[in-house]
Amino acid sequence: MKTLRSILQQQDFSKDDIVFLLSLKEKSQVDELLNFAYKVKTEQVGRIVYYRGLIELSNKCKKDCFYCGIRASNKIERFSLTEKEVLECADFAYKNNYGSLVIQSGERNDKAFVDYIDTLLQNIHEKTNNELRITLSCGEQSLETYLRWRRSGASRYLLRIEASNKELYAKIHPQDDNHNYEKRLEAIQDLRLAGYQVGTGVMIGLPFQTLEHLADDLIFIKNQNIDMVGMGPYIEHPDTPLYQYKESLFSLEERFELSLKMIAILRIMMKDINIASTTALQTINSFGREAGLLAGANVIMPNLTPVSEKKNYLLYANKPSVADSPESCAESLTEKIEQIGEKIAFGKWGDSLHYRKRK
Ligand code: 5AD
Repeated sequence: MKTLRSILQQQDFSKDDIVFLLSLKEKSQVDELLNFAYKVKTEQVGRIVYYRGLIELSNKCKKDCFYCGIRASNKIERFSLTEKEVLECADFAYKNNYGSLVIQSGERNDKAFVDYIDTLLQNIHEKTNNELRITLSCGEQSLETYLRWRRSGASRYLLRIEASNKELYAKIHPQDDNHNYEKRLEAIQDLRLAGYQVGTGVMIGLPFQTLEHLADDLIFIKNQNIDMVGMGPYIEHPDTPLYQYKESLFSLEERFELSLKMIAILRIMMKDINIASTTALQTINSFGREAGLLAGANVIMPNLTPVSEKKNYLLYANKPSVADSPESCAESLTEKIEQIGEKIAFGKWGDSLHYRKRK
């Protein structure tokens, strides 16, 4: 019978090992796992946090994912930030030395959208003296589009697999061409071909999801040789099809702890990648993002979206800080991070070490 200690000494984890770690119940054992991961983080990437200023560009979306509050079927007010608004966000990130930006939006593939992103990339770089790294998180696109955006200055791309198990993927998405598992996998391959630092991730605590699924998610991320990961708890949204399964979910506290364990195990499995401590963690616990950092994450995405539009970008219920400006989001965050003894790497790009070695 393996013990926690003997598993932590291994070079690599089997699926059974991961399930064992995810199943830990006793607080002292969970703490031992998280502390071990924090030690790995300290040695490998340092007690350093990289900021990525998050711009939620638009909630217009052609997809109809069963978990998401901005799914196409939902009758909500739809917005797109203007170029001027986006440039103001970028300017804020630049002046505050964030080093990097993330542009996230609902998924569209029409020419106007593809052109708009392209223009934004060029104009942000021009306005900020090419000093910011830009990550895109704008869903599945053609290889041609990925290449075009790459040429215009996007260097990282986040596309969560959401659930790496094909059957589970099918349960949380409509069954049509627009939500095809193979296409999503292909998009991740295309991103690599196009030369991006590639990010993916999953939701944790979905209906129908088991610990075995989550173990497979981590193995998927490792096998895909991913450079950056964003994963966080699933939080049910009342206006979505999956809400009907809310009674079957792990409690929010359990999903929170499971997410911290996932971060910790991944940090031990992939020592040199970038791992984000997500806003969804903070939704469950006001200390959530700091807890993510202490479990092995090293990236935080302070929100830069103008307050006027934040209320329209609710992917899940109870999203925090909807009324907070970028200034106030950043101020309290920076203080809280420094209080746990981590240093924010202002003015640094913080590229994934894994990516650099891979190149
Ligand atoms: N709970 C948690 N995360 C969600 N996302 C979408 N809906 C939810 C939800 N209900 C995540 C998806 C997506 C990212 C932008 O937000 O993983 O990739």
